[in-house]
Amino acid sequence: MKDPEAFRLEAVATLRRRVTGRAIVAASGGIDSTAAAVLTQQALGERARSIFVDTGLLREGEVEKVGAFFRASDLEYTVVPAAERFLGALEGVVDPEEKRRRIGTAFIRLFEEEAVRFSADSLVQGTIAPDWIESGGALRDTIKTHHNVGGLPKDLKLQIVEPLRDLYKDEVRTLAAHLKIPRADRQPFPGPGLAVRVSGPVTVDRVAVARRANAIVEEEVDRAIAEGRIARPWQYFAVLLPVRTVGVTGDNRVYGEAVSVRIVESIDAMSAVAAAAPWELLRTIAERITRELTGKVSRVLYDITDKPPATIEWE
Ligand code: XMP
Repeated sequence: MKDPEAFRLEAVATLRRRVTGRAIVAASGGIDSTAAAVLTQQALGERARSIFVDTGLLREGEVEKVGAFFRASDLEYTVVPAAERFLGALEGVVDPEEKRRRIGTAFIRLFEEEAVRFSADSLVQGTIAPDWIESGGALRDTIKTHHNVGGLPKDLKLQIVEPLRDLYKDEVRTLAAHLKIPRADRQPFPGPGLAVRVSGPVTVDRVAVARRANAIVEEEVDRAIAEGRIARPWQYFAVLLPVRTVGVTGDNRVYGEAVSVRIVESIDAMSAVAAAAPWELLRTIAERITRELTGKVSRVLYDITDKPPATIEWE
């Protein structure tokens, strides 16, 4: 992007032309949708409302962190609590693509309801070029149904507006800096949230285990970064696996599930390398996960697969 101010002016003008009534913005807390939300607020003022959905599939402290990020970006926003709806939609579902479809539909239905509440006829999303390219909108085969692109029902009652549709990530970063959105050292987090980090059935209990395991990985890696033991990886997280595996506590054999820890280096998520994480860091993570989640997790694995052949997420 040569001139972010020129882009901003044009995007604001286009938003004003396309949205004649009111709009809601699907704000995930990521840089893309935050930039789209700030542009929409600049274009429409009171006629825009940014909505952050608490799906019940978010990470520990995420609602608070995202709220602070929005406030620092001068964005007006509303948090919609929707854990029951999302977990209900996922009941009994184990197929990863089906999880994504159900979550996509739940998001859309929720936004339709919020639109009715706000008398909006448009939905603004932070879709960027790689999102629709990966979702089969252009040259590439369908790699994955991203929640913000796939799963759109045919009977959608809202006009979809995507002000960042033609931008690539580095251009969004330039734009975000220009819009005075603070830099957040936030790792990418998939739209379907912890649902795709809970392999197998998505239950309240299993989500809670994955959430804590993720938090432990984040805490320990962040500590290692802060102490200069490692450089900041691209992504670092835990995945709960539906495996019954045995462990010992004292004299007892206890069955729990397994957790896979994933730490990857990448430039753009198109390819990635499993990080050669320090042994001590991995041992600390394994020790904390098995201790803090005794009876739930009895084994911790480290995923050493690159992308390709694997993907970054497990599902
Ligand atoms: P994969 O697993 O395909 O992930 O190597 C590439 C990057 O995309 C993130 N990811 C998603 N982001 N909706 C999103 O918005 C999704 O459904 C989704 N799935 C994966 C992933 O965390 C990684 O950064």
